[in-house]
Amino acid sequence: ARLVVLVSGSGTNLQALLDAIAEQGPDAYGAEVVAVGADRGAIAGLERAERAGLPTYVCRVKDYGSREEWDAALTEATAAHEPDLVVSAGFMKILGKEFLARFGGRILNTHPALLPSFPGAHGVRDALAYGAKVTGCTVHFVDDGVDTGPIIAQGVVEVRDEDDESALHERIKEVERSLLVEVVGRLARHGYRIEGRKVRIS
Ligand code: GRF
Repeated sequence: ARLVVLVSGSGTNLQALLDAIAEQGPDAYGAEVVAVGADRGAIAGLERAERAGLPTYVCRVKDYGSREEWDAALTEATAAHEPDLVVSAGFMKILGKEFLARFGGRILNTHPALLPSFPGAHGVRDALAYGAKVTGCTVHFVDDGVDTGPIIAQGVVEVRDEDDESALHERIKEVERSLLVEVVGRLARHGYRIEGRKVRIS
């Protein structure tokens, strides 16, 4: 399967995918990253892509007259790489209608909380502030809501008394990276069907 990965920051989830594919080989793993897209420049995620010799593209919202034009540009730039699956790994923009129309049902997102708890851009901070005893990460398909699509897999992480947001997020990311690598490989190798809120991996 051809993967396009969308990033906005450090790109450690992207790196986990690249490392797994390099280790197992694209055929055994079932997928290869063909391009990396971002909503901003000068981020480690793009450096990781460039180090791996991958094509990259940047679509900044502020470079376009409207959100719709940004949505169209991101859609075209992504479609140019003919992805089978789009993986949003720490991509911090809400994908637009055109993007969802083009790639809907083939877009994965990873979120650092146990959805439906703590959706949105501050899932780690919100779980900590709420006093949750366990939190974790969720890999799900993207639908037209925010962090509301069908859940594929989740991993649980305990919250420790001494945790601050970054310590907890780092511990979540350890689980998240292996969960994402496992899910992407399984979907790529076995195929899947989305039935309402259920995901059947054949
Ligand atoms: C991940 O925890 C992702 O769930 C969240 O931001 C983090 C991105 O990490 N949205 P990285 O850029 O993959 O290192």
